[in-house]
Amino acid sequence: MSPDVAQEIEKLREAIRYHEHRYYVLNDPEISDAEFDRLMRRLQELERAHPELVTPDSPTQRVGGAPAEEFPKVRHSTPMMSLDNTYSVEELKDFDRRVRELSGRSRVDYVGELKLDGLSIALHYEDGRLVRGLTRGDGVTGEDVTGNVKTIRSVPLRVEPARLAAWGNPKRFEVRGEVIMPRKAFEKLNAQREAAGEPKFANPRNSAAGTLRQLDPRIVAERQLDTYIYQAIVNGRPPLEEHWQVLDSLAAIGFKVNPHRRLCRRFEELIDYIREWESKRDRLDYEIDGIVVKVNDTRLWEKLGATAKSPRWAVAYKYPARQATTVVKNIRAQVGRTGILTPVADLEPVDVGGVTVSHATLHNMDEIERLGVRVGDTVLVQRAGEVIPQVVKVVKHSPQGREFRMPKACPVCGGEVFRAAGEVAYRCVNAACPAKLKESLLHFAGRRAMDIDGLGEALVDQLVDKGLVKDVADLYQLTEEQLEGLERMGKKSAMNLQREIENSKQAELARLIYAIGIPFVGERTAQILADHFGSLDRLMGASAEELEAVPEIGPKTAAGIVRFFHEPRNRRVIEKLRRAGLRFEQPPAARRGARPLAGMQFVLTGTLPTYSRDEAKKLIEEAGGRVTGSVSKRTNYVVVGSDPGSKLEKARELGIKTIDEAELVKLAGKTAPVNA
Ligand code: IVH
Repeated sequence: MSPDVAQEIEKLREAIRYHEHRYYVLNDPEISDAEFDRLMRRLQELERAHPELVTPDSPTQRVGGAPAEEFPKVRHSTPMMSLDNTYSVEELKDFDRRVRELSGRSRVDYVGELKLDGLSIALHYEDGRLVRGLTRGDGVTGEDVTGNVKTIRSVPLRVEPARLAAWGNPKRFEVRGEVIMPRKAFEKLNAQREAAGEPKFANPRNSAAGTLRQLDPRIVAERQLDTYIYQAIVNGRPPLEEHWQVLDSLAAIGFKVNPHRRLCRRFEELIDYIREWESKRDRLDYEIDGIVVKVNDTRLWEKLGATAKSPRWAVAYKYPARQATTVVKNIRAQVGRTGILTPVADLEPVDVGGVTVSHATLHNMDEIERLGVRVGDTVLVQRAGEVIPQVVKVVKHSPQGREFRMPKACPVCGGEVFRAAGEVAYRCVNAACPAKLKESLLHFAGRRAMDIDGLGEALVDQLVDKGLVKDVADLYQLTEEQLEGLERMGKKSAMNLQREIENSKQAELARLIYAIGIPFVGERTAQILADHFGSLDRLMGASAEELEAVPEIGPKTAAGIVRFFHEPRNRRVIEKLRRAGLRFEQPPAARRGARPLAGMQFVLTGTLPTYSRDEAKKLIEEAGGRVTGSVSKRTNYVVVGSDPGSKLEKARELGIKTIDEAELVKLAGKTAPVNA
C-alpha cells in the first residue's frame, strides 16, 4: 500500500470532520450536501480497498456494528446528579442567599443556561477519541450506549489534541450534556410512525430517550438526535476556574454548546434572562422546560458541595406548565397529509400562557376513550412549544355530553374510511384524496419511488393549487406549455422535468407498487410483492389469504392492500397509469426463482456445525433474505446452532419457527454446505 493512500485517507477524514463541525455543530455549512457526500464516498471507497486503515474514530464509523443485545451497565466517574427546582423569583432569591452565605461572599456571578428537555449523557474521551457514551441511569450507574451516541453527528468522535492545551492536555476527560430531539425531527418521526401504524411518541423528550435506548444504531442514526454539552470533567473536577470559560472552551474544542447562555453579574440580569426566554422559548427548534442557574466560580462548587441528590451550586428555574381549562364545543375528524383522520376538539377560546387556543388535538380514538372526553365536557388543555395544543384530562363531565364517532366516509373526499385490525388510526383509502394529494405526489416522485428529479414541494404546490394535477396519473398528461407556465420554470427546466416524468415510466414494478401509496407498503414490502406476484394486475387480484401467504406480509398489510385496490378511485388512477404506459409487469428474470429467500428475515443464534456466522449470513443474503440481530414478530426463521442464546427462548415465546443449518441450506436452494 502506498503512503499516498494513507495520506489521502487522513486528509479526507480531516476535511469531513471539519465540515461535520461546520454543519452539525455550528449550523453554518461551507459546502453543499453533494460535495460532502462526495468526500464521504471517496473515504468509504478507500477504506473498503484498505480495511487495515479503518480506525474506530473515522467519520465512516458513525454507524457501525451490529445491533446490541443489551446495554452494559457502567459506573459513572462521579454521580450524575439532578437539580433542585425553583418556581418563583422568591425561591430563586433564597437560592442566591444560601449560595452567598455558604460561600461567604456578598455577591456571586451566575451563568444562566437553557434547561433543555432531553436526557443527560456522559461522554468519555481518551487520547482525544470518544471511547464511551453513558446514559444517566440511576445517577450512579448508567448504560453504555456508545454505539448509539456515535451516530449523533454533533458528537465529535475525535478532538484535535492541540485544542486541549487550555485544559492542561489531559489524556482522559469527560463531558456531560443533554441529548435532545429537535421538534422538526420529532414531528417527522411521529408522522412516519403514524403512517406505519406504530404508536406515536408523546413528546420530543420521550422520543429522544426511546431512541437512545434503541438496540439498533442504524435506527438511531436515522432519527436526527442532537446534543448540547454543558459540563467538562478533568481529573474529577471542572478544568477551569470559571464555568463561563469552560463553556467557551468546550465550544472551542468542537463540542456543540448552546449559544443562548448568559453570564449574569447581577441577580436582576438573571431574572431578565429568565423572563426573556420564557417568551422566546417557542421560537427554538427544541423544547426547554426552564433555565438552569449555575455559580460561575467553579472553585466554589466544591466548597458549596451537594445534598444527597443535587448540587448546591446550581438550581433549575422551571417555567410554569402552560395549561388552562375550557369547554369542548365540538369534536370533528381532520384529514391529515397522510390520509389519517385525527379527531380534533373545537374549544371555547381560552388564553394559555399568552396564546389564544381554540382547537386541541385528541390524537386518535384510543386517546378519546382514555380521556373519556365528550362534546360539552370541561377539559384541561396544555400547550408545549409550537405544536398543536393537547387535551390533558377531563375536569368536569357534562351531563348532556355527546360522544364522538369516527365518520364512515372521508369528510374531504367521501372516500371510504378504514381502520386496520390492531391499529389505532383511521384512514381515508382514496390515494387521490385532496387532503393528501400533495403528499402523495411528493411520495410518488420521491427518489426511492418513481424518482422524478425536480418535482419538489414548490412545484407540487403549484400543480395542485392550479388544478393541473388531481391524481398521480395526471403527471403523465402534463404538457411542456403547462409546465413552462409555472413559477420559476424556464423552458429548459420544463423540458428536463418532462423528460424525467417520461423516463419514470420505465421504473421497475417494485418502485411503482411503493409509489402508489398503499397503506403499510414500504419499499421492502413493495419489492416482496413485485417478486411474488410479478405484475400489478396479479397483485390487484390477490385476496387477503393469498397475500398473507406471502412471507413477511401480515394480516394488517394484507388488509391494507385489499382495501386499497377495492377503492374505485384508486382503480381509476391505476387504469390511467396503465394507459400512460407505466410498467405493470416485472420481467421473469428478476423474479423470485433465483432468490428463494427473498423477503424473509432470519436470526442466527449459537454455533452452526459447518458455517461461520458470516458465511451463513452471506448464504442468506445471496438467496435474497436478510439477517437481523434480534427476534421479533417479523422474523421468519431462527437458525439454531449449539449453545444458542436467549434468542431461542424469544423465538419460542413468539412462536417463530426454528430450523437448523441443514434446513437453512435447503431453504436457500443449496444442496450441501459449501465447505462440508
Ligand atoms: S447541569 C449536577 N445544565 O436537567 C447538575 N442540566 O434535573 C448537572 N438539563 O439531569 C446538570 N439542561 O438532564 C444542566 N443546561 C443544563 C441542562 C441540564 C437540561 C437537565 C439534565 C439534568 C436535569 C436536572
